[in-house]
Amino acid sequence: MANSTAKLELGGENREYEILEGTVGPDVINISSLYKDTGMFTYDPGFTSTASCESKITYIDGDEGTLLHRGYPIEQLADHGDFLEVCYLLLYGELPTKAQKEDFDYRVTRHTMLHEQMSRFFTGFRRDAHPMAVMCGMVGALSAFYHDSTDISDPHQRMVASIRMIAKMPTIAAMAYKYHIGQPFIYPRNELSYAANFLHMCFAVPCEEYHVNPVLARAMDRIFILHADHEQNASTSTVRLAGSSGANPFACIAAGIACLWGPAHGGANEAALNMLAEIGTVDRIPEYIDRAKDRDDPFRLMGFGHRVYKNYDPRAKIMQKTTHEVLGELGIKDDPQLDVALELERIALTDEYFIEKKLYPNIDFYSGITLRALGFPTTMFTVLFALARTVGWIAQWKEMIEDPNQKIGRPRQLYTGATQRDYVSIANR
Ligand code: CMC
Repeated sequence: MANSTAKLELGGENREYEILEGTVGPDVINISSLYKDTGMFTYDPGFTSTASCESKITYIDGDEGTLLHRGYPIEQLADHGDFLEVCYLLLYGELPTKAQKEDFDYRVTRHTMLHEQMSRFFTGFRRDAHPMAVMCGMVGALSAFYHDSTDISDPHQRMVASIRMIAKMPTIAAMAYKYHIGQPFIYPRNELSYAANFLHMCFAVPCEEYHVNPVLARAMDRIFILHADHEQNASTSTVRLAGSSGANPFACIAAGIACLWGPAHGGANEAALNMLAEIGTVDRIPEYIDRAKDRDDPFRLMGFGHRVYKNYDPRAKIMQKTTHEVLGELGIKDDPQLDVALELERIALTDEYFIEKKLYPNIDFYSGITLRALGFPTTMFTVLFALARTVGWIAQWKEMIEDPNQKIGRPRQLYTGATQRDYVSIANR
């Protein structure tokens, strides 16, 4: 889809590079032959100006605050869809018919159990291990159990691996939680919805009946929808890069989980709630706003700012609504952390520093308050993000494997180290 060219003058020579046009969003200059033509690379730390792939899955307009999955706005999907419908959409490109949806739900539901032998893995971890560490290990270990779905050249095996991961992730996450708090594992209940089953596995105990509150199950489902995919973020790019070498999908998703854990990415929801707790009361907010603005202080307002959104994160708006629904359902009238969050947001949105830098609340600002009200400890927050993002990672991984132009990912560098020198024996150093 080249419509024009970009001209580059270098060392007295003029070259032209085609400009590729997407269906929406910025055009890109195709510089893939630049090194061959000129012997030079481009330099772009953090990939702020680099499109690493072509994709048809998710589109974000950061200035407008728009998020589309396969063309559908996130607000419509969160209002009308359920998580498994969004999974189908991300994986197959279209919303399912009723029959396709029933078939998909059935296929996911029939894979929810974990190989029984794998449950013994958990006892190898310290009980106080962070559940993200446990998730990373357990998901990587799936490839040691499900050999029959690791041949990435077989489309059937690719799909079986995809369904297995979407189905087993809630079971692994719930087991990580149960192990952490010293309660027995609860097996999946296939008559429950995806989100209700997850809440059941987390909060039921064998000694009494546990009924999942449908309002809370719907909130959980919406939280999963909001986290399902977000185009080429750090963890998704990690999954694509790991997958570009031909690594099996379980190993690739484990790599994505490791990347997601960082506080600048998925770990921000945990960090945001810890920050709200540390601030404690509304009167201490100005002190923290001043710290966030101080260039000599590494402190940042967690849950604020985004590489792509330079407007309100559309997911944060839906999450704020969900927070109120959950607190209302649970009869929580006074939540000091919600008070701090609302006031912090109000002050930051009117503060010159945040306006000028276009720093708005992101999804992680409100998700922590909601997840805590649902009963999860902060250490589980990023685990829930990983659970929901698994489908996005898989859809992106599948798209990459099926792309005929796919190559192993291999960025280059600007080398500024020592030039060649001779080895000096240790006695003479
Ligand atoms: N608080 C205070 N100042 C900030 C913040 C913040 N949260 N975020 C960015 N800035 C400032 C930053 O200091 C910089 O200032 P200057 O131009 O004077 O150096 C400017 O804004 C641009 O920031 P940047 O770090 O160059 O922007 P980036 O695109 O590299 O970083 C980010 C994006 C999300 C890592 C960053 O905004 C951040 O660390 N936010 C807090 C962590 C967070 O909430 N992360 C969740 C992201 S959404 C969920 C997900 O994708 O995982």
